[in-house]
Amino acid sequence: MNQQYWDRLAKNFAGRVFEIAGGETNGALAATVKKLSRRYKTAGDFGCGAGGTTPLLATYFDEVIAIDYAKKLLRRAQKRVQTDNVRFLTADLSAKKPPAVTVDAAFCINALLHPNAKKRRRITETVYACTRRGGAALVVAPALESYLRTYQVLVACRVAQGQGRKKAVRSVAPLAQKEVHSLVEGIVDVGGTPTKHYMHDELVQQLADAGFAVATVARVEFPWSEVLDDLPQDLQKFRPWDWLAVASK
Ligand SMILES: C[S@@+](CC[C@H](N)C(=O)[O-])C[C@H]1O[C@@H](n2cnc3c(N)ncnc32)[C@H](O)[C@@H]1O
Repeated sequence: MNQQYWDRLAKNFAGRVFEIAGGETNGALAATVKKLSRRYKTAGDFGCGAGGTTPLLATYFDEVIAIDYAKKLLRRAQKRVQTDNVRFLTADLSAKKPPAVTVDAAFCINALLHPNAKKRRRITETVYACTRRGGAALVVAPALESYLRTYQVLVACRVAQGQGRKKAVRSVAPLAQKEVHSLVEGIVDVGGTPTKHYMHDELVQQLADAGFAVATVARVEFPWSEVLDDLPQDLQKFRPWDWLAVASK
């Protein structure tokens, strides 16, 4: 999961990588962005990718700096943004030296995904270094609880289709075994790629370790269709989610 990996996904990025800002179902991310914009003027989009969140930030903030190390994705983001209040910057957020950027509000939306803990720590520290004192950070990260819950919902789905519960559990267990690379580290398969997922307390800890004071952690929900096909309607009530943490510096 390096810069080349992300650039290789550039063609049809939106079709291959789920963008939470456009796909969320409960409006939690959009509402929090709007709320933060009432207090802060400049925003950083750290790991902006193909600009999934950048236009939203550009709508609400006076100035946005969108940063990524994948040049092809940055070019896609550039095409997607219609306003002239966004500056794009190529930088590796896990490098020792943070980019010379200071923003009031830092956004890091599903960019803390690398299986390597040191890389994730460095990115978090970069986001902290680039946030001005008195500023805020909004971090969205995949939830391990949500990922594991999917297996239980899959069992319920098979039971609803008439399979016995024991048999359903036995049929789902090997899938979980194959997809969960490390339960301890929260590294699980997403589209064939080992991807970091976070427990609630773990995300809080990671942000606190970088220096942030975490204020709230909420859920950004997304449709079941992103993770499971043909789910019966009555099982769709509780949706899968990413964590949405808001912290201050
Ligand atoms: C899943 S995409 C998310 C894109 C966007 N934030 C969104 O929500 O649609 C993760 C992005 O993080 C970027 N990224 C990951 N590690 C990075 C690093 N060390 N430096 C800069 N960008 C990084 C990748 O290039 C990719 O564009």
